[in-house]
Amino acid sequence: MTIKKTILITGGAGFIGSHVVRRFVTNYPDYLIINADKLTYAGNLENLADIESKKNWLFEKTDIVDKQSVLELFKKYTFDGVIHLAAESHVDRSITGPDEFIFTNIVGTLNLLNAALASWKSSPAGKLFYHISTDEVYGSLGKEGLFTEETAYDPKSPYSASKASSDHLVRAYNHTFGIPVVISNCSNNYGPNQFPEKLIPLAINNIKIGKPIPVYGKGENIRDWLYVEDHASAIDLIFHEGKAGETYNIGGNNEWTNIDLIKLLCRIMDKKLKRPEGTSEMLITYVTDRPGHDLRYAIDSSKIQNELGWSPIPEFAEGLERTVDWYLANEQWLERVLSGDYGKYYDLMYSGR
Ligand code: NAD
Ligand code: DAU
Repeated sequence: MTIKKTILITGGAGFIGSHVVRRFVTNYPDYLIINADKLTYAGNLENLADIESKKNWLFEKTDIVDKQSVLELFKKYTFDGVIHLAAESHVDRSITGPDEFIFTNIVGTLNLLNAALASWKSSPAGKLFYHISTDEVYGSLGKEGLFTEETAYDPKSPYSASKASSDHLVRAYNHTFGIPVVISNCSNNYGPNQFPEKLIPLAINNIKIGKPIPVYGKGENIRDWLYVEDHASAIDLIFHEGKAGETYNIGGNNEWTNIDLIKLLCRIMDKKLKRPEGTSEMLITYVTDRPGHDLRYAIDSSKIQNELGWSPIPEFAEGLERTVDWYLANEQWLERVLSGDYGKYYDLMYSGR
């Protein structure tokens, strides 16, 4: 088979990355996908078990913080494009231990940019470094307004500061060295394969086993939720149709306070587990707030909708129901993921709250 493009996807064993790898491997049989991942606590090749037998992807265990490993990867393959998702992604972990976020999110991105620059210097035409970022770089909104691509950066957590820093580096390498880049900043994702430290899978698991659902502060913080496959479809579109040098905001136009979201999830779980209505809501427990907790994120995604024709598909209740179904049908996945160091993390994070 002739390979049309060779694409490096970093962080492809993680939550969003695995959906992106699956989409590219399935939709583009003439692409060779190289999935480079360190397999941290959040990386899990089991997420890709269903496409294990496909011949058009390879896994390379790589720590992007290790400059030499990254350079070797770019020597081994001639990449036409990079889709960079590898990161430390959990805000709470960035508060208890920011260092790893600085290494992976900033130094790791720098190493990839340097390797791409060295490899593409003589012929950058047709190449693309696509950096996956977050709406959290814009900081926190009050009750009104939306983040646009022009909103000034104002990150508030070590996680968002590290992501903002990597976005700046990517733009600087485009401006200074001429590497073709594109960046997208997306809102909160949910769906299958999300590590159960994040609100929705954590709550699903706690409800299932009858453990308190920890709601930070008064539960009034607002997030804009997007089904993970909609993020993957946006990434596909931006990679193929996006304009180099541009930024695209991606969001679900789907704002929920945490407490309303949890109550909806409780109703779905009662129905699925055939428990009397109201059973799960009794588990809601208000706990000490996250330090520096951003009040509200909301994305204006009109640019990608108007210029590239993207739109999200499932309604939130339907997407949540699909997510719950997946977690209930994949108990072993959850058990295996929970059996590692996660128990210690959970005790540390929630015992004093
Ligand atoms: P995740 O934590 O589920 O997965 C991250 C992946 O990166 C894991 O597979 C992990 O093993 C890998 N990784 C971590 N450090 C690495 C290193 N040093 N070298 C190589 N691989 C490493 O994260 P996610 O939620 O899938 O997020 C993916 C990307 O999307 C991140 O860049 C994140 O900032 C961004 N993002 C996430 C969301 C969200 O709601 N989850 C929203 C917007 C943007
Ligand atoms: O906005 C995009 C970002 O969304 C991504 O860049 C991050 O990688 C991703 O982790 C996510 O960040 P959040 O901090 O918004 O997600 P999290 O699931 O951790 O929390 C969602 C909201 O729920 C937030 O307001 C904090 C609250 N929360 C979270 C947990 C884990 C609780 O109330 N209780 C909890 O136990």
